[in-house]
Amino acid sequence: MDYEYLIEKAKEVRERAYVKYSNFKVGAALLCKSGKIYTGCNVENASYGATICAERVAFTKAISEGEKEFEAIAIVSSGDKIAFPCGICRQFMSEFGMDLTLIFSDGHTIKTFKLYELLPHAFTEFEAEVKGGS
Ligand code: THU
Repeated sequence: MDYEYLIEKAKEVRERAYVKYSNFKVGAALLCKSGKIYTGCNVENASYGATICAERVAFTKAISEGEKEFEAIAIVSSGDKIAFPCGICRQFMSEFGMDLTLIFSDGHTIKTFKLYELLPHAFTEFEAEVKGGS
């Protein structure tokens, strides 16, 4: 799958972001191992805390359609700066595999990271004890 195509899909859905409070649009395009792509944008709320990020919208759409395995997610935001996913989204995505590729574009170049690079020592239900700490 062409990473540039996924970035384009993320840019398309970014335009549908509901950003009444921050005016900061985010779009995400999630490529599943099935080959299907699910997109998501951020949807804000007057209570602020009920806001949902673009990444979690894409994931919940895919999971509710029966997808279980994920390959890559492209994330774009307002402007040309790379916007890394927030901590809640990193933890949320980690539930479905640390090998996920995250794709970002600054308008010129495409940069990729693995989720395990962005969320070292992720919380997992049965491994909550501190590992490797002193
Ligand atoms: N936002 C996302 O959609 N994804 C992230 O990973 C970080 C933040 C959204 C939430 C809110 O609507 C806006 O960006 C400003 O925080």
